[in-house]
Amino acid sequence: MSQTVNGDAFENLLREERKFPPTPEFAAAANVRGDIYAKAAEDRVGFWAEQARSILTWSKDFDEALDWSDAPFAKWFVGGEVNAAYNALDRHVEAGHGNRVAIYFEGEPGDTETITYADLTERVKRAANAFESLGIRKGDRVAVYLPMIPEAVVTMLACARIGAVHSVVFGGFSADALRSRIDDAEAKLVVTADGTYRRGKPSSLKPAVDDALAAPGHTVEHVVVVKRNGQDVAWTEGRDVHWADLMEASSPEHTAVGHDSEHPLFILYTSGTTGKPKGILHTTAGYLTQTAFTHSAVFDLKPETDVYWCTADIGWVTGHSYVTYGPLVNGATQVMYEGTPDTPHQGRWWELVQKYKVSILYTAPTAIRTMMKWGREIPDKYDLSSLRVLGSVGEPINPEAWMWYREVIGHGKAPIVDTWWQTETGAIMIAPLPGVTATKPGSAQVPLPGIAVDVVDENGAPVPNGHGGFLVVREPWPSMLRTIWGDPERYRDTYWSRFEGMYFAGDGAKKDDDGDIWLLGRVDDVMNVSGHRLSTTEIESALVSHEWVAEAAVVGAVDETTGQAVVAFVILRGEVEIAEGEDPSAVLRAHVGKEIGPIAKPKHVLVVPELPKTRSGKIMRRLLKDVAEGRDPGDATTLADPGVMQQIAQDLRK
Ligand code: PRX
Repeated sequence: MSQTVNGDAFENLLREERKFPPTPEFAAAANVRGDIYAKAAEDRVGFWAEQARSILTWSKDFDEALDWSDAPFAKWFVGGEVNAAYNALDRHVEAGHGNRVAIYFEGEPGDTETITYADLTERVKRAANAFESLGIRKGDRVAVYLPMIPEAVVTMLACARIGAVHSVVFGGFSADALRSRIDDAEAKLVVTADGTYRRGKPSSLKPAVDDALAAPGHTVEHVVVVKRNGQDVAWTEGRDVHWADLMEASSPEHTAVGHDSEHPLFILYTSGTTGKPKGILHTTAGYLTQTAFTHSAVFDLKPETDVYWCTADIGWVTGHSYVTYGPLVNGATQVMYEGTPDTPHQGRWWELVQKYKVSILYTAPTAIRTMMKWGREIPDKYDLSSLRVLGSVGEPINPEAWMWYREVIGHGKAPIVDTWWQTETGAIMIAPLPGVTATKPGSAQVPLPGIAVDVVDENGAPVPNGHGGFLVVREPWPSMLRTIWGDPERYRDTYWSRFEGMYFAGDGAKKDDDGDIWLLGRVDDVMNVSGHRLSTTEIESALVSHEWVAEAAVVGAVDETTGQAVVAFVILRGEVEIAEGEDPSAVLRAHVGKEIGPIAKPKHVLVVPELPKTRSGKIMRRLLKDVAEGRDPGDATTLADPGVMQQIAQDLRK
């Protein structure tokens, strides 16, 4: 544990006096009322069974809601069969909603596409046939390396339809990172695009796939390539296939069959405390139940009238649960945007809200803080009156950003729902209910109905109100990860061994005097940069893989905009000869970009003569964090060489 959870810095959080209850009109029309908590508490598992039956259309009903006999390996809705794509698509068309818009796509260059449920269903059926024609069968893994374009959603749902397991890799990850994920999942197919657009310029994806597959020894048989920006790409005959040709040759008829409730739906890799990313495995029915339930309850979604927009990329869990699965299972109309918020101008998001009359917006604190920095004049130029619910996810939202979001974007009337969850939890776990909860700036507040979250001390005992500790989940929940792909022991060790019988989330948290929960960030070696999860160890491994580096220590330092920023301290090898004019910091930043991806590039790489170590040789990251955040390093007496920190601080000042 590199961080304490009782720091004085958080004390002021507990003095939040402002509360914003829902308006009577909002409360009266809300999807869920306050009595839902008591109902769920009475019979937690029964509550989820009821949700599962009312939300999903089952091919075969389940016999048992939860089998926890082999804990921590859960089985939900045992014996049931359900098809995720049928639930997200066909059934809405069969119910007469084929003409409802599923996706308003807006490309970065300004091209648009309006896709109805009928259109999307047909595309997914074609893609399902297409993937089958390439030999993909139930249980096979498909790597998806695509930008935010409709084909990403089509690919995910086509996989789900035929029971293939998708593994989406964020387009900002490097060829090396892609290859390690392809290898770990033993993917047979990769779906990618020539590229996308970034800040007004074409950027490429296919070359990274070619690089990733250059060395032999992989399991990939085909690469399907969507033409997005039209750039020239290298082509491997026999392996590479054009998306458009493949879809044209495929039938638009495809019957969905039910898959077992526990059939794997997807793997999504995320950073942990070790160098190797973990393949988080989610299965079908429980995941669909909780994503759809939370999407309806937390955002108060009214599928007939709302226009919903989640700004997350499909490469992260938020894009899985709250772009692809939750909204489509609920029959929502949503906006999908390919580009960055500042292209071609800093008002692009608000222009889109105005254009599509977005009523529910779900985004990350880092984006809100960036917009705050750009100034309220920008959003003030647009008509944002359609917004009625505002969501936040990915990192703690500081009260200032929360208030700005509420006043400037929500005009003081749209409730803000701060949603806490993780790749591992699959769906939202802690959040206010917008028609029930009096919201508080900066707090995610209450566990959802049917979710048993607690804050405990070192020994696993619940802390009283007004105290801090570790966030845990006491009971299994439907959308929980089932295991780490290929490594059940690591699953048990990582999540279920710190506190007996409880899932440990890796986050510190505090209960305030009302019992509301405040998230305090990670207590392990995981960093959160712009809501993206990065591992200190993974970046350290990338740094030491460079021939110049003898040792590296990485810390996440507080950053006004991105929440945390990666700061690396490196010791260079004695024998390296660095040419005149060559800047080791720049070279090493680029190296991390190549090894992991641009999102992992340290903001600063500081070359130091020594690292602070305890007598037993453990690097004291806490002290490095102090200097990285501009504080005087605290107690250094346990260091083997107490002079080291002075030296580093001195070098930094230079
Ligand atoms: O530290 C918590 C933070 O993000 C971590 C999970 O990251 P990831 O698996 O990438 O999923 C992000 C999107 C769900 C958590 O362990 N986190 C997420 N949401 C919040 C948060 N921290 C504070 N408040 C939140 N609302």
